[in-house]
Amino acid sequence: MIAAATFIGGGGPTTHAQTVQHLTVPLFHAPSTFLGYPDVTSFLQAWLPIVFMGVLVIAVLALIRFMPRTRPEQIKPESAPSIGWADIAGSDEAKEELREVVDYLRDPQRFRDIGAKVPKGILLHGPPGTGKTLLAKAVAHESGATFFSQSAASFVEMFVGVGAARIRHLFKAARKKSPAIVFIDELDAVGGHRGFDVSGERDQTLNQLLVEMDGFTARKEVVVIAASNLLEKLDPALLRPGRFDRQIFVSPPDVAGRERIFHVHSRNKPLADDVDLKLLARQTSGLTGADIANICNEAAIVAARRSAGQVHMCDFDAALERVVAGVQSRKTMTDHEKRVVAYHEAGHALCGELLPSVDRVHRISIVPRGRALGYTLNLPEEDRYLKTREELIDFMTMLLGGRAAEQLVFGSITTGASDDLKRVADIARAMVHEYAMGTGSGSLRAIDDGAAEATRRVRDVEVRELADEAYRAHRRAVGGRRHRGQPGTAAPARAQVSCPGCSCPPSTTSAWPSSR
Ligand SMILES: Nc1ncnc2c1ncn2[C@@H]1O[C@H](COP(=O)(O)OP(=O)(O)O)[C@@H](O)[C@H]1O
Ligand SMILES: [Mg+2]
Repeated sequence: MIAAATFIGGGGPTTHAQTVQHLTVPLFHAPSTFLGYPDVTSFLQAWLPIVFMGVLVIAVLALIRFMPRTRPEQIKPESAPSIGWADIAGSDEAKEELREVVDYLRDPQRFRDIGAKVPKGILLHGPPGTGKTLLAKAVAHESGATFFSQSAASFVEMFVGVGAARIRHLFKAARKKSPAIVFIDELDAVGGHRGFDVSGERDQTLNQLLVEMDGFTARKEVVVIAASNLLEKLDPALLRPGRFDRQIFVSPPDVAGRERIFHVHSRNKPLADDVDLKLLARQTSGLTGADIANICNEAAIVAARRSAGQVHMCDFDAALERVVAGVQSRKTMTDHEKRVVAYHEAGHALCGELLPSVDRVHRISIVPRGRALGYTLNLPEEDRYLKTREELIDFMTMLLGGRAAEQLVFGSITTGASDDLKRVADIARAMVHEYAMGTGSGSLRAIDDGAAEATRRVRDVEVRELADEAYRAHRRAVGGRRHRGQPGTAAPARAQVSCPGCSCPPSTTSAWPSSR
């Protein structure tokens, strides 16, 4: 429109035309500019990347703000959980070692005068539930030093470098408060072999831990205690002298240790006279302190449910059964199935009686619990650490006794022996591959990766021969002794336990799930 006006007025005097032109130029360009840019597209091209970066920065900042913050938990001696040495039973070696460190931290001068240095790192390792965290808590309570505790899992983060920064922070805080103890629980979370971590975060965290452990000056008394379930999984650099130079194996307790743990955990429970903690300790071979604590608590719960004023032996029995074999299941079995299970369990029990090296049978049950339809409990006379080849064969014979009984009595076999068969296979395999107890190369432990195809084949044959040997031993031991009655006419054995001192109903009771 303006251009047209100019055109219309084009025939006027020069000065007028110039004025018009002067006026029209800015008017003509005005609509095509956008905030100083020739058009909207160039404006967006210039600003969009900047806005995008801004949004990105805000998002990252927000993410960091909402990321869970993990601070090392500082436990002051006076506020430490009141767990003392007396609350820990059965881990005497570990207690002795840790006591030494506690003594040092209480009176460092005495040790310094004679030129002794405090160990830098103590690694507690052993199966879960053996009391590693508990030992560290006792150290916190008894040492009088400042105690920092953090789980290694809390170092692991999505962003590379965050874990390392947390380690730095933890050690800085500890050094400030020296003498101090740093406790890192579940060290496996960061302490595994380096080089297998795709993101690099875990490796970097571990490197930082190694650096911090080396970095202490002699005057700063900071002791690192760590707990781990598997020593083999840890990076060798962690285990060299100067880092975790003391490695303490916290093993499952022996029979005396178990009895003391039972005492510790039943201290605050009113026990009836019939409770025999010695017998309970014998019945719980292989269980850890955590299992025993659990059994004591379950027993109290069972007693409370009965509204009993005291905890009786039957409550402990029920608790043991529940912890070891699982909760009673509501499976309904047919009469025939019950008979099969009864003969199966009796087959195990018979082998237990006939073979001298197998532990004596304590109880048989055909009440389904957990995944098991029945079980037989064999109790060792004492804790054993070594087993002979003959004992292992006898044990396999006992495991196969269930299926053999089914075959003998009913003429057919069932799927119920799957767990037994798996255990037999595991034992036979371990005998050949780990203990070199096969029929052939008696002095060579098998290393699967390096073995030639022919060697592996020979070993497979040996494994089968061992299992067959056990089955033959069963036929020898049981075969000729069978009383030929009608199968299933006798009522299935059912161990009934009733408790003379209390009003609890008679119950079928505890066992290791040895089969089915
Ligand atoms: N030696 C022990 N004496 C007394 N209680 C124990 C013992 N070992 C384990 N417990 C019980 O088991 C629980 C778990 O033990 P914990 O120290 O967490 O095991 P870990 O750290 O070795 O996996 C403890 O709180 C305690 O009640
Ligand atoms: Mg622990």
